[in-house]
Amino acid sequence: RLLIIDFGSQVTQLIARRLRELNVYCEIHPYNRVDDAFLKDFAPKAVIFSGGPASVFAEGAPMPPAGVFDLGVPILGICYGQQVMMHCLGGRVERGHKTAEFGRAYVTPTEDRLPLLDGWFAEDREQVWMSHGDHVSAIAPGFQVYGTSPNAPFAITADPERRFFAVQFHPEVHHTPKGAKLYENFVRLAGFSGDWTMRAYREDAIEKIRAQVGDQKVICGLSGGVDSSVAAILIHEAIGDQLTCVFVDHGLLRLNEAEEVVSMFRDTYNIPLIHADESDLFLGALEGVSDPEVKRKTIGKLFIDVFQKHANEVGGATFLAQGTLYPDVIESVSFSGGPSVTIKSHHNVGGLPEKMGLKLVEPLRELFKDEVRALGRELGLPDRFIGRHPFPGPGLAIRCPGEITREKLEILRQADAVYIDQIRKHGLYDEIWQAFVAILPVKTVGVMGDGRTYDYACSLRAVTSVDGMTADYYPFTHDFLGETATRIINEVQGINRVMYDITSKPPGTIEME
Ligand code: XMP
Repeated sequence: RLLIIDFGSQVTQLIARRLRELNVYCEIHPYNRVDDAFLKDFAPKAVIFSGGPASVFAEGAPMPPAGVFDLGVPILGICYGQQVMMHCLGGRVERGHKTAEFGRAYVTPTEDRLPLLDGWFAEDREQVWMSHGDHVSAIAPGFQVYGTSPNAPFAITADPERRFFAVQFHPEVHHTPKGAKLYENFVRLAGFSGDWTMRAYREDAIEKIRAQVGDQKVICGLSGGVDSSVAAILIHEAIGDQLTCVFVDHGLLRLNEAEEVVSMFRDTYNIPLIHADESDLFLGALEGVSDPEVKRKTIGKLFIDVFQKHANEVGGATFLAQGTLYPDVIESVSFSGGPSVTIKSHHNVGGLPEKMGLKLVEPLRELFKDEVRALGRELGLPDRFIGRHPFPGPGLAIRCPGEITREKLEILRQADAVYIDQIRKHGLYDEIWQAFVAILPVKTVGVMGDGRTYDYACSLRAVTSVDGMTADYYPFTHDFLGETATRIINEVQGINRVMYDITSKPPGTIEME
C-alpha cells in the first residue's frame, strides 16, 4: 500500500483519487501522526508528500519523520512536499514574494531521461498547474533537474538512484492535463500491480466502521438518494441491526418514491427502517406559503424536529450516519465563513449532530460521486437506482412555485412520471444531469375535443452539468418535445399547456426556487 503524508493541501484527496483510478490502494495520514514507529508499522511500498499551505521557514513547520528517507521506497514530493524534501536532504528553499506563482505554466524537459516522465511530454512542453509561494533555490545532493518552467527552474527534480522525485506543480489537479500519467509511472516504478478494487474498498470501509462504532447504536437519515442509501447499506453490512434508518416522508416526493425506498430497504436489504409519514405535518405547515425561502426554512426546520423525534424512539444511539461526499467536505472548508450571498438555503441536517449529542459516521467522506456509484454497484444496488438524477431535499415544494396544494402536487407527480418515462424510452436519461417537471402557478385556457379547458401550465426542465454548479439546457429535438407535450396533456388531468425551459445556469438556477 501507498502512504500519502498530508501537509494540509486542499487537494490531497485528489491524489488519493488519482491513485484509486489506477487501482492502487493508498491511505492519507496527517504529517503530525506519522512518526518512525508508524512508518514501521504501515510499511508503505511508496510514499507521497502532499502540498500544503505552510512555509518550511515557519516555526514548527510540518516535517516528515526523518526515517522516511531510509525506508528504501520511492518518494514523490509535490509542491510543499518538494520543498520539504529538499530542506530535509540538504537543498535550499527560498521565500519568494516575487517568484510566487499561481496558475497555468508550461514545463520543458531537460536533456536527461527520467522514467517518471515516460510518455509525459507530448511535445516539447507540458501544461501544469502551479500554486506556491516559496520555491526551491538549490537542489539536494544526488538530485538533478529534469524539467523547468520560466518561473520554476526546479519544476521537476529527482534522484533516480534513490527513487526520490519532487515536483513544484500539482499533477493531481485537472489543470495539469497529463498529471495522471506521472502517478501511473510513479506507482509502476514502485512495483504496484494495480489490482486494488472497489471490493477491497468495501471491505476496508467495513473494518473501519466496526472499529469506530464498536457495539454502539447508529441512526441514519435516509433520503432515498444514492449517497445516504449507499452509506446505510455499507454500515448495515458492517454492524447489522445496530443500525436503524429513519426515512422522513414529507409528502413532497415523486410518484411511488416512498414505497420504493421503504420496500428496497426493508425487503431487499432487511435494514430496520422507521418510515415517518409526516406529510400532513409538512403540508399543513406549508399551507398558504409561497415565498421560496420561507418554504425552504419551514421544511428544513420541521425536518430536523421530526428526524429528532423519530431518532429518539430508537433509544441509546450514539452515532449519526451521513452520506457526506468529498466535494461536500471541500466546499464546506473552502467556503466556510466566506462573504457569499445566500442564493438558496440548502436543505441539510447540519447542526443536528451537536443538537442531539451524536458523533458522526461518514463512510463516504473520501469518495467522489462516481466512486459512490461504483461502491453502490459493488453493494448490489440496481443500476437504475444508482444512476438516478439528483433530487433536492425540499422535494417537489421547490418545483411548485407559489402556493403548494395537494391537488397541484398530485398533478405534478403524474406529469413528472410521464416526462421521465419519455426520457427513458428515448434513451436519453443518462445523458441528462437532471430532468423534471414544474407546475406553474397559472391556469390558462385550452380546447380539448369540443370543450373549453382551464387548467394549469407546466414547464419541463432538463439540463446537462458536471457538478450542478453550472448547467446548460438539454437540446431535445422538436419531435421529442412535441410528443412529450401531447402525452402529458392527454394523460395528465389538470394540465393543458406545456413549456420547455431553455434557461441555462447561470443566469437561472436548476430548480425553480
Ligand atoms: P440549483 O437550483 O441551486 O440546484 O441550481 C443545484 C443542484 O442542487 C440541488 N438542490 C438541492 N439539493 N437540498 C439538496 O439536497 C436542497 O435544498 C437543494 N436545492 C437544490 C438541485 O436539485 C440541483 O441538483
